[in-house]
Amino acid sequence: MKGIILAGGSGTRLHPITFATSKQLIPIYDKPMIYYPLSVLMLAGIREILIISTPASVPAFRTLLGDGAHLGLDLTYAEQREPAGIAEAFLIGEDHIRGGPCALILGDNLFHGVNFYATLARSRAELDGCVLFGYPVTDPHRYGVAELDAGGKLVSITEKPADPRSDCAITGLYLYDDRVAGIARELRPSPRGELEITDVNRAYLDEGRAALVELGRGFTWLDAGTQESLLEAGQYVQILERRQGVRIACIEEIALRMGFIGAQECAELGARMGNSAYGRYVIDVARSLG
Ligand code: DAU
Repeated sequence: MKGIILAGGSGTRLHPITFATSKQLIPIYDKPMIYYPLSVLMLAGIREILIISTPASVPAFRTLLGDGAHLGLDLTYAEQREPAGIAEAFLIGEDHIRGGPCALILGDNLFHGVNFYATLARSRAELDGCVLFGYPVTDPHRYGVAELDAGGKLVSITEKPADPRSDCAITGLYLYDDRVAGIARELRPSPRGELEITDVNRAYLDEGRAALVELGRGFTWLDAGTQESLLEAGQYVQILERRQGVRIACIEEIALRMGFIGAQECAELGARMGNSAYGRYVIDVARSLG
């Protein structure tokens, strides 16, 4: 399975922070925002990943992550000229997907919870059509909303409904079979002029091939699109990391634990950042797992 991280958009809700940089490059506490979605794809065992961003920001992502070889990954980059909708990622990424299954994650989404690794593995194994991930929120009208029947089966999906039928938001992580680019090609822009991811998901639902995995209590899903949510996400990461002494979304540690790189390579990555607490953590992880 291939991966796509969509990290474009104009970040207008974060102006002036995002005038000169991409939203997905600004930090959530101790690391750039894109580390969080990247770590999710790595945990899902996905190593061939396309990063899509604006023409102005692609060079900065390339500077940050390069070709990914140091992490045992194969990273490539593509431009999205205008924020013409999340589903455009499948058209921009059509060559990358090459008719195979694909995971898409939004560059400003943070997932954290026990057994997420196992949840991802199971969802990949059971993929038949698409898998969406639902999360209960107090403000569902801000998101795509899933409605489930009494048996927990997905029955409807609505984008930012004024009157939500449930509190279950559809998160920014999506797994699709090999037909997703074809479905995206048939889409018409929505009234707000975008190729909507919700329309892709609805096409799968209409065929009875959309599954929803509920990420329930005890799991954390945050998006960092506003000043408040950005600060809250940073505080969440800071509190957990300081309390437990382990780092969330440390891509070097995940690369080592997933067997993408060895302990020696991991230690070298840490040494390059040896002046920072993050770098020293990577060195310690490499020592303890080596
Ligand atoms: O975060 C989950 C939600 O993401 C879902 O519940 C919604 O169904 C889905 O439509 C989306 O809603 P948002 O309101 O968060 O979408 P937004 O337009 O803010 O885009 C989400 C991210 O994707 C944002 O970081 C910018 C990036 N993006 C967005 C568009 C439309 C792009 O890179 N290119 C685009 O064309």
